[in-house]
Amino acid sequence: MQLFIDTAEIDEIKSLNITGLIDGVTTNPSLIAKSGKNIINTIEEICNEVSGPVSAEVTATDFDNMILEGKKLSSIAKNVAIKVPLTFDGLRACKVFSDDGIMVNVTLCFSAAQALLAAKAGATFISPFIGRLDDIGADGMNLISEITEIYDIHGYDTKVLAASIRSVQDIVDSAKLGADVATVPPKFLKSMYNHPLTDKGLSDFLSDWKKTGQSIL
Ligand code: G3P
Repeated sequence: MQLFIDTAEIDEIKSLNITGLIDGVTTNPSLIAKSGKNIINTIEEICNEVSGPVSAEVTATDFDNMILEGKKLSSIAKNVAIKVPLTFDGLRACKVFSDDGIMVNVTLCFSAAQALLAAKAGATFISPFIGRLDDIGADGMNLISEITEIYDIHGYDTKVLAASIRSVQDIVDSAKLGADVATVPPKFLKSMYNHPLTDKGLSDFLSDWKKTGQSIL
């Protein structure tokens, strides 16, 4: 399973990318707004840091302007994936970009029917928003399961990108259900490696080791 980082904060991206475990980055207009920086400069900086797909979202809602914005974002770097919303115009734009060989991430997916259309439009990634479904009392993980089942049965290449992650368990459950990617806010990525028993075990090992008076180097 691939792990993308869901942030537009370049310092956070750099600090996590040194692990070599980051396969890509997703941004959205809210994350760009939160960073307080210019979208073009931010996407350029991220693409210089990360070689995997970097999602940059159009803000136009009509087809013509989605195409113009998408082309501009795509010209920033080869690894930009144009993010379009799962609307009629967004699907149309997805088809045009994917026919042109440009990566497309179709975002704001909340149903299996929407995901089916995105796959037919040639999306590289479909982004089901798990957390936002859970927030309204629906079952986000069930959506992941429905989409992976449909894509497997019909052999669609579109990658299922679990988004709107709210816990480490969401990442684990998405992985178990066959999601290809999870896009993870930095704080959950850090929580993935932390475990109190790891800390305790290490502390015990080190205290026993000290008693030996040895040094490996
Ligand atoms: O990148 C989109 C997505 O992950 C949004 O998450 O937490 O705003 O629902 P959230």
